[in-house]
Amino acid sequence: MRRNPSFLSFSQLKSRAAFGCKAAALTCFLALLLCAMQGVEAVEPPLGLEPAGEKSVSTALTDQQVEERVNALLGQMTPEEKIGQLVQVPGQAWVPNAPKPEDLVAKGVSGSVLWLSDPTSINRLQRIAVEQSRLHIPILFGLDVIHGFRTVFPVPLAMAASWDPPMVEQAQAVAAREASAAGIRWTFGPMVDIARDPRWGRIVEGAGEDPYLGAAMARAEVRGFQGTQLGASDRVLACAKHFAGYGAADGGRDYDSSYIPEDQLWNVYLPPFHAAVEAGVGSLMSAYMDLNDVPASGNPWLLHDVLRGAWGFQGFVVSDAFAVRSLITHGFARDPADAAFRALTAGLDMDMASGTYLQNLGALVQQGRVSTAQIDDAVRPILAAKIRLGLFEHPYADEARFAEVTKSPEHRQLARAAAERTMVLLRNENHLLPLKKDLSSVAVIGPLADSKQDTEGSWTVMGQRSSAVTVLEGIAHKVAPGTRVLHAPGPEIKRNIPSFFDALMNPHPKPAQTPAEADQAFNKALDTARQADVAVMVLGELANMSGEAASRSSLDLPGRQEQLLEAVVALGKPVVLVLLNGRPLNISWAAEHVPAILEAWYPGSEGGNAIADILLGDANPGGKLPVSWPRSVGQVPVYYAHNLTHQPETQRGFVSRYWDGLSSPLYPFGYGLSYSKFAFSNLQLDQPQVSLGGKLGISVDVENTGSRAGDEVVQLYIHQWAGSASRPVRQLKGFQRITLAPGEKKTVRFSLGKEERSYWSSAERKWVEEPETFDVWVGEDSTAALHTTFKVNP
Ligand code: NOJ
Repeated sequence: MRRNPSFLSFSQLKSRAAFGCKAAALTCFLALLLCAMQGVEAVEPPLGLEPAGEKSVSTALTDQQVEERVNALLGQMTPEEKIGQLVQVPGQAWVPNAPKPEDLVAKGVSGSVLWLSDPTSINRLQRIAVEQSRLHIPILFGLDVIHGFRTVFPVPLAMAASWDPPMVEQAQAVAAREASAAGIRWTFGPMVDIARDPRWGRIVEGAGEDPYLGAAMARAEVRGFQGTQLGASDRVLACAKHFAGYGAADGGRDYDSSYIPEDQLWNVYLPPFHAAVEAGVGSLMSAYMDLNDVPASGNPWLLHDVLRGAWGFQGFVVSDAFAVRSLITHGFARDPADAAFRALTAGLDMDMASGTYLQNLGALVQQGRVSTAQIDDAVRPILAAKIRLGLFEHPYADEARFAEVTKSPEHRQLARAAAERTMVLLRNENHLLPLKKDLSSVAVIGPLADSKQDTEGSWTVMGQRSSAVTVLEGIAHKVAPGTRVLHAPGPEIKRNIPSFFDALMNPHPKPAQTPAEADQAFNKALDTARQADVAVMVLGELANMSGEAASRSSLDLPGRQEQLLEAVVALGKPVVLVLLNGRPLNISWAAEHVPAILEAWYPGSEGGNAIADILLGDANPGGKLPVSWPRSVGQVPVYYAHNLTHQPETQRGFVSRYWDGLSSPLYPFGYGLSYSKFAFSNLQLDQPQVSLGGKLGISVDVENTGSRAGDEVVQLYIHQWAGSASRPVRQLKGFQRITLAPGEKKTVRFSLGKEERSYWSSAERKWVEEPETFDVWVGEDSTAALHTTFKVNP
């Protein structure tokens, strides 16, 4: 049934939102309180940065003042100018015959511009808006600042592997600082899509499989980008994307339809978005795909009922690029006018790049199919964001400041620390790692060992030559002066089908290797390994092998990397495998035959230095997997929070659901080793029973029994024994990353309340907290053994 276009007036929205806001403020307060109770340290301002809000230009504005300014502007705007605020255009006219952005901006019919990244072009266009358009409304420039701008941080999946929200917040504050100095005041991040299928290339852009970890990362990223209050000149407006369900694309194929039952939506896919909204995110981006047959960009249930209705969201929604026009491709909208009508009336405020609003909304208003009030409701939050960001007072980038800000050594320092904290040690037989710095020779081998671009990963395409430190460079800087560092890349790897990003990332590709050249490269790599005491194999995927439009049907190491790895191991030397990648890969052979494996993800600008810090013992790995690591692609999807069904493999007499292999993952969710050892003991509840709605305190002692200082991520999982609907075997409901000196013991405290125990029941069709018995496990990963139970009484 087509929804009535008039959903809520602005004042209705405002009053709902005000309620939502109070609820959000209360939740934030409780969250802070909880942090304090759990002993989580308050977030320090990022290295060398002012505290959030210090340079705020508009923080003094009350909601009422913003509303008055919005109303005053709206009162002066023509229908064309209002629609213009709903139109976002590419900074360069890259679609054939598209109108030039300069002309649209001068006429005041383009409120936002994307894909410009240098301050000079941004200022040029902004000057046209401010000086030539009738009402001088500044442009909001948006860009994908996903894991850093000039200083590149580890990719988001890696950041989630840090299990360190304060660090993630600091990194995004640095990204915001650099981007805002260039005049970019809106980032298309965080991506908070839950992904349980590593074939999907965009798993690299999110926080992995778990809604609890995903929500924690979403909150941290929003706070990092926006600060505590929108308006500081060194922060940017955040945009939680892709609303919603994009990570469940059929077969892991990018943009393909998602079919997600309502309970999975509420319990798994929506919580990180809700967390972003509660953290005050200013905008959301609608997803490309059909969600249960209704495209997300024309989906009133998502954009209206859930987002504005249930959550009281006050900001605005932008489509993904060209997604409004694609409503026709889906077989949903009849023609461009119908696409514009259905997107706008579903609750989508801004059309990214497709021009469909620009070309059709005017006529729809004239025909009376879309009312002026509906247009006004879409324009209001966009103008409000521009006012709050201080764009009217400070529309231009300060180019001199930009040059200075992006050279900051503190930013590189944070990027290095972040990368160290994201790496996950998967195997370390006989303490092969850390290596000694004065080994006589080391061979650094593999197609990624000396590649700057592939050290940074995807979404670093906006006009900057990489300044990343490669693994080869990082190791060469760190080893003792007498150590010989040898290098051979081995055969090159490439996608069978090129990426449409290649033109941006690699505009002048080398001709592909011939089979004879590849053989030669293979033999040379083997010879190089033969000459060294230790081989460090840097393998994985090129940056363009994961990310948007980078789905795979296999999880094997691309090209001849597996063959090279096996040949080097056969030499009988100690081998360390360093993985650079954005998804779990099939490393089942390596997991049995390569003594040391470090998952380094795409670690960013300082990646090579951070990897060398870990391999050579200046840093101790403490990252943990944010995804269950499959043994092979045939296990996908494999995730820890599944339900137990009839005759699961945990039951005697039925060992596996596959007859040709195990159904458990190679490495469980939350897994990661350290150079230290940690012992968990003394799991205590402050009471064995609690009433519905009550809070329960849980504590555990964690001791570093190793001989080095190190980090442990203390993880808490629960399981509800019975209920109105079946419950997952385990669910993460608390975590803390702590640092312990050798021999040090700490008591770590958690609090479990109604929020952690509630779920959306498909039987009741609502959120429920049920009086049942619960298991609790606390430990180092999702297989934690230390166990107790508690009861919730009616
Ligand atoms: C398409 C991607 O899906 C989205 O994540 C991105 O923000 C936009 N393009 C803009 O670049």
